[in-house]
Amino acid sequence: MSRPLVVTRRMVDHPTDSHTLDRYQETGGYEMARRSLDMTRDEIVETVKSANLLGRGGAAFSAGLKWSFLAPDRPAYVVVNADESEPGTFKDRQLLERDPHQLIEGLIITSWANEANHAFIYIRGEYPKPARRVQQAVDEAYAAGYLGEGIFGTDFDLEVTVHLGGGAYICGEETAMINSLEGLRGEPRLKPPYFPAAKGLYMKPTIVNNVETICNVPHVLAMGAEDFKGIAHPEDTGTFLLSLSGHVNEPGNYELPHGLTWREIIYDVAGGIRDGNELKTWIPGGASAPWFVPSLHLDMPLTKQATADAGSMIGSGAVVVMDETTCVVRAALRLVRFFAHESCGECTPCREGAPWLEMMLTRIENGQGRPVDFDVILDVSDGISIGLEWPPKMTTICALGPSAVSPIISLRDHFGDEVVAHIEGGGCPFGRVEEEEVVA
Ligand SMILES: Cc1cc2nc3c(=O)[nH]c(=O)nc-3n(C[C@H](O)[C@H](O)[C@H](O)COP(=O)(O)O)c2cc1C
Ligand code: SF4
Repeated sequence: MSRPLVVTRRMVDHPTDSHTLDRYQETGGYEMARRSLDMTRDEIVETVKSANLLGRGGAAFSAGLKWSFLAPDRPAYVVVNADESEPGTFKDRQLLERDPHQLIEGLIITSWANEANHAFIYIRGEYPKPARRVQQAVDEAYAAGYLGEGIFGTDFDLEVTVHLGGGAYICGEETAMINSLEGLRGEPRLKPPYFPAAKGLYMKPTIVNNVETICNVPHVLAMGAEDFKGIAHPEDTGTFLLSLSGHVNEPGNYELPHGLTWREIIYDVAGGIRDGNELKTWIPGGASAPWFVPSLHLDMPLTKQATADAGSMIGSGAVVVMDETTCVVRAALRLVRFFAHESCGECTPCREGAPWLEMMLTRIENGQGRPVDFDVILDVSDGISIGLEWPPKMTTICALGPSAVSPIISLRDHFGDEVVAHIEGGGCPFGRVEEEEVVA
């Protein structure tokens, strides 16, 4: 299948040296950044807005629209979200490691468009090689005069700071990331009033965008809004990186046009299910997203709207495929345990509720579940995310709490009989579970 490549084109064509400045410049790199400095802020924001470049970090919010909300107070800042900690997500890592100059070029344009003279790249602490590559590229860009004072011979100054996180998932949430950059605990801020574009880093207007979003910016300007929109789907424009993992024959990162069906993605792109097994379920957009099942969703197109209409989200583009050999209670337990562990503890429903969900699922998986337990699990979940729907009605400050509830919604909607089988059968029908596997 021939597919349009935008952000991975260079690493596909030049797999050995796509990360170097020489290769970047030889393939047209930094031309768009140079040209963008002759454009006005409004021209750039309008182009990105009308291209409908959607954020690739989770919420799929229009980047141009976000930029247009930037408050007039100055200085303004830009923060690249390279925290990438959502289980199953590994796309930004590839962009950071294999084409760091593309990110820097996007960052120059984004900073110019948002009148920022200081930008930050916040990389998760467990990404040492991507962080080294990005720092090296930043150093090269400074040496070439593409960063620092008077870049490209203009009077625009741009400092870029590469910052490594301490390994907390919550620091991927934009306001927790801002707290962390300020040296505070990585805890989310209330929105409103602390929408970053209004009151962000050091209480100044701040644009936070995902790595992949920023990497698309030079291409949007180079192609123009109409051509960018023409790549694939008219609403979900451009391409997107999908991290495909789990029980597929060919896991990996794939740059794809929006609008393919799940059948095409799982069977054509990812080579189908291992050992000829049946597909049981899949997580369509990162661990926070409610799951899909073949009987309802296989021929549905992967777009923001179709996914939302079906009660889930495209999220961070991480697809985890599970075949018929999977115990869904155990899979849900693993995910809930992750969120319980990563809860920052700031608000009670998440801090207290997520560990309760973990404990009760552990009990069911271990064969000590009582008939009333699933109702109690649903009740505790409702205390975190009222109505148990997606998008969630949250009782919490950030979306991590409801993310812990997504696997529960998935069990309730598609696998209630398996939960009952665990409870009535005195344990996991898929076999014995090692103690350390299910006890936190
Ligand atoms: C708990 C939590 C974790 C998040 N982790 C990430 C992350 O690792 N990377 C990311 O880009 N966005 C993450 N987000 C979304 C960010 O808050 C923010 O919406 C995003 O960086 C905006 O960029 P975009 O508009 O380009 O997608 C997370 C959100 C939440 C609630
Ligand atoms: S929902 Fe959880 S992670 Fe988010 S602020 Fe509340 S306690 Fe922290």
